[in-house]
Amino acid sequence: MIRISKKAKSLKPSHLNNFFAKTKKMRANGKDIISLGVGEPYQDTAFFISEGGISAIQEGYTKYTPANGDPRLKEAIKKSLALEGFNYDTKSIIVSAGAKPIIFALLNILIEGKDEIIIPAPYYPPFATMINFLGGKIIAIDTTPDNFQLKAETIENLITQKNIAPKGLILNSPNNPTGAVYGRGDLLKISELARKYDFWVISDECYQKFVYEGDFISIASLPNMSERSIIIRSFSKSYAMTGWRVGYAAGPKKIMKKLDIYAGNFLGCASSISQKAAISALNGPDVKFVNNFLPSRKILISWLGKNNIPFGKPQGAFYIFADFSKFLSKKIKDSVALADFIFKKAEVTVIPGISFGPQYDNYLRLSYCVRQSVMKYALQKIEKILI
Ligand SMILES: Cc1ncc(COP(=O)(O)O)c(C=O)c1O
Repeated sequence: MIRISKKAKSLKPSHLNNFFAKTKKMRANGKDIISLGVGEPYQDTAFFISEGGISAIQEGYTKYTPANGDPRLKEAIKKSLALEGFNYDTKSIIVSAGAKPIIFALLNILIEGKDEIIIPAPYYPPFATMINFLGGKIIAIDTTPDNFQLKAETIENLITQKNIAPKGLILNSPNNPTGAVYGRGDLLKISELARKYDFWVISDECYQKFVYEGDFISIASLPNMSERSIIIRSFSKSYAMTGWRVGYAAGPKKIMKKLDIYAGNFLGCASSISQKAAISALNGPDVKFVNNFLPSRKILISWLGKNNIPFGKPQGAFYIFADFSKFLSKKIKDSVALADFIFKKAEVTVIPGISFGPQYDNYLRLSYCVRQSVMKYALQKIEKILI
């Protein structure tokens, strides 16, 4: 018997990672797998950004930076947030190796005992895994009845009727996996609840640059909300820098101080080279490729419509969460079996809905951050085996 902790034993590989690994392996074996699975823009990192990293190496900028981030990067982040009307100083900003470790850091700082954290479902899988790992309690709110929008009334009913005292709420708008973007009206009502019931809001804004309908609004920008929300952003999607690993959090000093100490003890700094590239990203010309995904989004939406596959219209991010119930059968009984079938027979990767919450086992997530020719070809292949 291996002597490791109970919580380590309970850790299971995610379906998302499984399909990602399977895709990589098959490609390494020479198979031409198309991925509508991974959430990664097809573009390469813009060269002026890469040059920032190259010059870091050439100039020997290859040592530790402060654990909370290169001061010049924090300054650039501060300026870019100020352009949106935020008033964070550099002490209120912490840089990390991507958004993921900083979300975990934050949950580590917030969760005590069986603290309850609300997450709208379907959700980005690590939110749930992290809360579970830390011993907290997930309060998932199914958003399917509201077209994947999160309604303050639903949160309040839950709090009052089920006697819940949430320590925090994780918002993710634009949303992975649904593409929902929360509007000002709903966010204002949610912020009133945060004050009324005294909970933190962790606002994962990794897709803030990918909005096709409506406007992106950060809950932290609403009245009195910068004091009780922590925004999480990432260079991964916004600048096609998934492999560089740079993300950051901005929030009230009382919590950022702790996050700073946490980073010093447990995270260490993000790569100095990547941070230099991130400075180039913020100081260079605007990299805007949201419109590049419009053709693939359109093709996918019309294909789903044509085949009567229900889905929530994606306003942002680059995913569609669609209800594939009608393709389930005795032979293909759930979303993993269906994703497997599509992977094996059509050689296309899609992500099983169960990854995003146990009740979504009839859904699949499809990413449209691919070229339109790739999207067309992938759908032709899926159509051949499914329809
Ligand atoms: C909602 C959401 N948050 C966070 C992340 C992690 O981003 P990063 O690459 O910065 O760790 C992802 C990545 O897919 C995501 O979808």
